[in-house]
Amino acid sequence: MRFGLVGAGKIGALRATALKAQSNAELVAVFDVNKDAAARVAAGAPVFDNLEAFLAAPMDAVIISTPPHLHEEASVGAFERGLHVLCEKPMASTVEAGRRMVEAARKHDRVLAVGFNFRYYPFVKFVREAVDAGKIGRVDHVRLFGGHDGLHNFSADWQYKMPHSGGGAMMDIGIHLSDLARYFLGEITRVSGVMSENVYKLPGSEDNAMAIFVNPDGVAATYHATWTEWDGYGIAVEVYGERGMVRGSYAPMKNLLIEKDSPTGAARRTVKRYPEIMLREKLKSWTSTALITFEEEVRDFIAMVEGKAGVALADGRAGLRSLEVAAAVRESTASGRTIDLPPLR
Ligand SMILES: NC(=O)c1ccc[n+]([C@@H]2O[C@H](COP(=O)([O-])OP(=O)(O)OC[C@H]3O[C@@H](n4cnc5c(N)ncnc54)[C@H](O)[C@@H]3O)[C@@H](O)[C@H]2O)c1
Repeated sequence: MRFGLVGAGKIGALRATALKAQSNAELVAVFDVNKDAAARVAAGAPVFDNLEAFLAAPMDAVIISTPPHLHEEASVGAFERGLHVLCEKPMASTVEAGRRMVEAARKHDRVLAVGFNFRYYPFVKFVREAVDAGKIGRVDHVRLFGGHDGLHNFSADWQYKMPHSGGGAMMDIGIHLSDLARYFLGEITRVSGVMSENVYKLPGSEDNAMAIFVNPDGVAATYHATWTEWDGYGIAVEVYGERGMVRGSYAPMKNLLIEKDSPTGAARRTVKRYPEIMLREKLKSWTSTALITFEEEVRDFIAMVEGKAGVALADGRAGLRSLEVAAAVRESTASGRTIDLPPLR
């Protein structure tokens, strides 16, 4: 599959490296307004500083890794030229833009996938496999936490400016959490929550958001996305069942599985640690783990384009729902009410 890359920044460079690891994929064009950045990742492929000219290059799919407010224009342009799209998270900076992207993909019968690469982290796969294997019984509730200690973690200021990013903690690490909530709940149809901008005081960029998501069967997830986790970066997913629980957390990466034969029975505990990942990240940075997830994502993307079902990759509807969920937390904060989300079209 011939890929074009839109956006050759920090993540775009990793996406280009991930493509090189695929025997059935090739990077054939790179577009960035910064042509030097494009040339650095292109490894000899043609580079462009103009979207129209880039989209006219012969290719089959594009990977979009520009700031979120730019995702719609590049995606819709790609669909109009018959290309498939793998778009970075968040899929767009507004729900309306996300909806237009899903509609354009449908109209042109192309694949739209979204880079929710946390689905591919080993600690999340462990949770998913334990739940799917029935090790904790019927799922009763889910808990999600993700955060870091704020603005100094960002390498570019668009990352905390609402017109570009679409919001704050909910659009940054929180968008992975709302996707994972849906990944484990099946769907999210009810949202209530409170977000706040009390610490950094950036208009429209919440530094904290706490919420409850509910699926159509009444199973709930608690969610907290934060930029004031003063202890530093951390993410945790916990699924509680009628006879056990499974937790995945990072960093460091770790899993805990508790299995019981009945709610009152004895607990069998399994702890999984990932020393090889910790060592690799110490030597080569966290991006070495992200790179592996990007390689798996692009493999699944090619499979999705080939019509294979059952891949872990998030589709455009998952991307859109995660935006709707973040918007619902915002709306719930303003109104003090619970927000019902209509079924996804
Ligand atoms: N999945 C993850 O783990 C993860 C982690 C971080 C960021 N992201 C997402 O990846 C995307 C890119 O983030 P990043 O950290 O690489 O940002 P970045 O700022 O490092 O790179 C953005 C690139 O886009 C280019 N650009 C800006 N305006 C452009 C335009 N109009 N046309 C073409 N190119 C333009 C910039 O020159 C830059 O090279 C964002 O959507 C972000 O949310 C994902």
